Amino acid sequence: MRDGLGFFGTFLRNPTAVGAVLPSSRYLSRSLVGDLSHLGEGDLVVEYGPGTGPVTSVIRDRLPRGARYLGIELQSSFCKLLSKRFPEMAFHCGSAGDVRQILAERGLPKPSRIVSGLPFASLPEAVQDDVVGGLVWALEDRACDFRTFQYAHAYGMKAARRFRSLMEARFETSERIGPVVRNVPPAFVLRYCGVRS
Ligand SMILES: C[S@@+](CC[C@H](N)C(=O)[O-])C[C@H]1O[C@@H](n2cnc3c(N)ncnc32)[C@H](O)[C@@H]1O
Repeated sequence: MRDGLGFFGTFLRNPTAVGAVLPSSRYLSRSLVGDLSHLGEGDLVVEYGPGTGPVTSVIRDRLPRGARYLGIELQSSFCKLLSKRFPEMAFHCGSAGDVRQILAERGLPKPSRIVSGLPFASLPEAVQDDVVGGLVWALEDRACDFRTFQYAHAYGMKAARRFRSLMEARFETSERIGPVVRNVPPAFVLRYCGVRS
């Protein structure tokens, strides 16, 4: 409840960057994270836009021993909350579009999975382009997948379609899961694999 109110307040101050009025439900969070059991020592999971942490908490519960995590969050109020709530996990306060520099500065490898809560349907085109460019760099040569979600009501919006067509042009396979109806609002999980050469 407290999370919902705090999240809604941040949404009112930054509607396009936050892009949602409530944190994701545990059903959407579980579907978004998927199975992590194949990851091993040193493998890295990166989360884009963890917000108040519902998806982070599923990742924490599923991350195998020795695997690593980095959350990249734009809003400083969420960054502070996340560091308090998940002291054993690492967060970078900045933009997911800068993933390449962020991983280099921290001496981290390319990720084995990227899970995103970014509101692509409301992000400016330039930010979408930076994020997709970063994803292509991060995931090329990796047997890895990228997972994100789009709200069902916004699925047909121009910006949401633009993001999917950018991703389909750069990734070999895509999958749509859902909609997950036990979330307000219902949402599709989208999965992309294999960067096109
Ligand atoms: C729709 S909310 C999702 C929050 C959380 N993952 C959840 O599912 O409840 C989008 C989140 O992305 C963050 N965000 C927006 N643009 C970002 C960017 N360029 N880089 C990193 N985080 C960003 C927002 O601050 C917000 O926390």
